[in-house]
Amino acid sequence: MHHAGSDRPPSIKARRGAVIWLTGLSGAGKSTLAESLAHQLDELGHACYVLDGDVLRTGLNADLGFSPEDRHENIRRTGEVAALFADAGLICIAALISPYRAGRAAARLACKAGFHEVHIKADLATCEARDPKGLYRRARAGELTGFTGIDAPYEAPERPELVVETARTTLAAATGQLLEYVLEQLAHQPR
Ligand code: ADX
Repeated sequence: MHHAGSDRPPSIKARRGAVIWLTGLSGAGKSTLAESLAHQLDELGHACYVLDGDVLRTGLNADLGFSPEDRHENIRRTGEVAALFADAGLICIAALISPYRAGRAAARLACKAGFHEVHIKADLATCEARDPKGLYRRARAGELTGFTGIDAPYEAPERPELVVETARTTLAAATGQLLEYVLEQLAHQPR
């Protein structure tokens, strides 16, 4: 039996959203991978949106610094916003250092079942050698204090849904690994 309109694609709202939470050191490749993944998902027709720590800190989180308390608030707000995007049916890709396990656990709670923690993993020496913003150099020179990996902690995830190693991987390969994971999750999502 054929109902009128039954061959229409599901509305965006009818699709289940998800939160892909990228955590890792500064310079590990979170922002680059987030944009690259979003581009691939867009091409496949999946509506997505990137929440990038550096960008959020120019607006929503412009009042926050890098003390443990401020970072916690940064992650708390971003977790809530990510949950809203997912609720609206989008794939929300969050890219923040999010150095504390407790903060990421809070974001996971806010986002419920649709939360996927991905460790974008590169050793400190690699991140420091890349130093895309010159911040490691400034931290080593003592011009910046409380820099993650230098004189502030990074608590690596203990049971992330996925680990993507970027030190000896091309951007294309790392993006492919992420995309494969996300597509598999979407395929198994309850409707
Ligand atoms: S988080 O720790 O609160 O999750 P977030 O991802 O929003 O950090 O911002 C990290 C970015 O802020 C870094 O990529 C870097 O450009 C900049 N930054 C400036 N100061 C610091 C610092 N002390 N520690 C880490 N990142 C810093």
